[in-house]
Amino acid sequence: MSRVLTKNHAHFQKALTRLPLGVASNFRFWGEDRTIYVKYGRGGRVFDLDDNGYVDYRLGYGPAILGYADPRVDEAAREGMQVGGVFALSTEREYRVAERIAKMVPAAELVRFSNSGTEAVMAALRLARAYTGKDDYVILEGSYHGLFDAAMWYTPMDKWSQVGDPEVYPYSQGIPLSTRSFAHFVQANDANQLEDVLRRHAGKVACLLIEPIMGNCLGIAADPAYMRAARSLCDRYGVLLVIDEVKTGFRVARGGAQELYGVKADLCTFAKAMGNGYPISVLAGREDIMRKLGHGVAHGGTYTAHSVSLAAAERTLQILDETDALERIAQYGTALRQGMSAILRARGIAHSFVGHPSMSGLYFAQDPPRNYRDWKGSDYAFYDAAARVLHDEGVLCEPDSREPWFVCAAHDESCLKQTLAAFEIAVEKTLTAQSGRRQAGA
Ligand SMILES: Cc1ncc(COP(=O)(O)O)c(C=O)c1O
Repeated sequence: MSRVLTKNHAHFQKALTRLPLGVASNFRFWGEDRTIYVKYGRGGRVFDLDDNGYVDYRLGYGPAILGYADPRVDEAAREGMQVGGVFALSTEREYRVAERIAKMVPAAELVRFSNSGTEAVMAALRLARAYTGKDDYVILEGSYHGLFDAAMWYTPMDKWSQVGDPEVYPYSQGIPLSTRSFAHFVQANDANQLEDVLRRHAGKVACLLIEPIMGNCLGIAADPAYMRAARSLCDRYGVLLVIDEVKTGFRVARGGAQELYGVKADLCTFAKAMGNGYPISVLAGREDIMRKLGHGVAHGGTYTAHSVSLAAAERTLQILDETDALERIAQYGTALRQGMSAILRARGIAHSFVGHPSMSGLYFAQDPPRNYRDWKGSDYAFYDAAARVLHDEGVLCEPDSREPWFVCAAHDESCLKQTLAAFEIAVEKTLTAQSGRRQAGA
């Protein structure tokens, strides 16, 4: 497939005149010649302004778990529209959705709705601080919890090899450096380091904020033993365990990562898959903590529990809970991994997959990464080059290798066949380009 992007390019130039980078989110800018605009999405595919069709493994960073424009969810959304939108008052459906969530996720004893993952995690952090009376928090290096100041810190890759803790920088200008001292960073899967941090800052830490499967970092997965250790260390040091399930929730299992690991959070957050793309998120958790909302802790928002999103969430959760959608998603993800592996193995390319079959990270080294810094050991340059060819061949993955490939229930045999054919072409072309560069350099 040779992609024509004429209309996309023309629209990009027009959009630039009114929108910074020509897009509505920095992450949607893929360069002057590769930024695309979606005309529509159906099932497991999206179509751009030039009518190029793509099998989509980004799925909007995860939400479209049943596929785009799922008729069952959209019908429910239309019913939600009839309710009337927002009232700055509650509706009966909130209770029904909360009941469903509590059934699927035992830790979700009480539930509050918000609109985005960021909002839910911000609320979780505030509530954890209020409940414990402490300000500090611990997060895993490489994790992503949304675009709010407290979660936007990183250590540059070129500093990783230095002795001691490398300096931490804000992701963005505009983040006050004075807030930096509240955050403490640990590497995934190192319980000794976690204990050391909790001991050194004992009495100051409100919570450990963690994604057991790092949904923005290849899907690097915590070991079950690490999650058990994290749970008991939190208990020992009087720290709340906040599990961010914005990506894993209602995806890796009906009860999310907590079901997969058999670990119960004190507070947990959900978004993405719960509404199949309609904007809705949840902060949930232990009753004694959640009851502080309204008793000293602020929570709210004009658009929370909007009737359209809430109706979409009710239907989406019912489908995920009562059908075999998640099993089919995992089966497809496993078949995709097997197919890609066979192509890479046939060419002697070392690789491994991380995460969960429903959200897989492809890592170009034999042994799967155990923390963010391992990512440096992957041939991510190979990935980046192959991703560009995949886009040209009608398969949409994130250009950045750290974003896992998301699978939805609408991905079918034809999607798989098309993906593997495109993947084989992408691998071949990338190998050829690499060897061309080597020869030119020799
Ligand atoms: C684990 C996690 N938490 C929070 C967020 C923020 O969610 P949103 O983009 O809906 O604000 C994301 C987004 O990708 C996420 O993956």
